[in-house]
Amino acid sequence: GHFTVVVPAAGVGKRMRSACPKQYLTIDNITILEHTVQRLLSHCAISHVIIAIGENDEYYPSTGLADNKNVTCVVGGKERVDSVLAGLKNLHLSKEQWVLVHDAARPCVQHKDLTRLITYCIEHDHGGLLASPVRDTMKQANTEQRVETTLERSQMWHALTPQMFKTQELISAISSALSRDISITDESSAMEALGYPSGLVKGSSDNIKITQPEDLCLAEFILNQQKNNLSP
Ligand code: CTP
Ligand code: MG
Repeated sequence: GHFTVVVPAAGVGKRMRSACPKQYLTIDNITILEHTVQRLLSHCAISHVIIAIGENDEYYPSTGLADNKNVTCVVGGKERVDSVLAGLKNLHLSKEQWVLVHDAARPCVQHKDLTRLITYCIEHDHGGLLASPVRDTMKQANTEQRVETTLERSQMWHALTPQMFKTQELISAISSALSRDISITDESSAMEALGYPSGLVKGSSDNIKITQPEDLCLAEFILNQQKNNLSP
């Protein structure tokens, strides 16, 4: 394996309302962050992970990650995009043509989806992201919160992670977006703003982002399903 994954893990997990940041909550006695990093490093094409943690993170040192030689730790920033950029700056640009970015809060990503994304990007020679088709009918609202229009559902996707791009292009796209004050919620949106292509690679919808309290049970269920080969 030879790809590096940047893992933003510097959030406080406000919506989770837990005592510690959500990436340090445990499932089967292992932190979510460790589940996520284990998933990534056990994929044959991935050799290194760069984790961006919070400035005064008191939890990271007691995880097993602190002395894993395939893991580098950097200090993240105020927004997710700042954390991602901090991680990207640790890559050796000459060696790492491609980089993946994956949320710490998505421990359920499957190897087959990682393979599909990496294969797609190499084959097409441009970046892309895992995504899943939306299930519900999507409504666009007006300012009175009445329906403005119904969107064409067949063209709507949930943006998941990982997202994979050429390192140099991603760094310049994020830097440019930040300097122009464009709001960047994922890597793809930075690339789109500069007109770079970004492929939607269909991934499993069980790649959830643990966001709210009820998601913890759901993630535990999904991880167990996957262990027993029952996942979709
Ligand atoms: N993240 C980060 N740096 C930030 C904010 C978020 O590295 N300044 C990371 C989170 O740790 C998480 C991922 O980005 O792994 C996705 O963000 P999100 O799910 O929104 O996590 P939080 O920001 O921690 O949660 P909330 O928005 O509820 O506070
Ligand atoms: Mg957030």
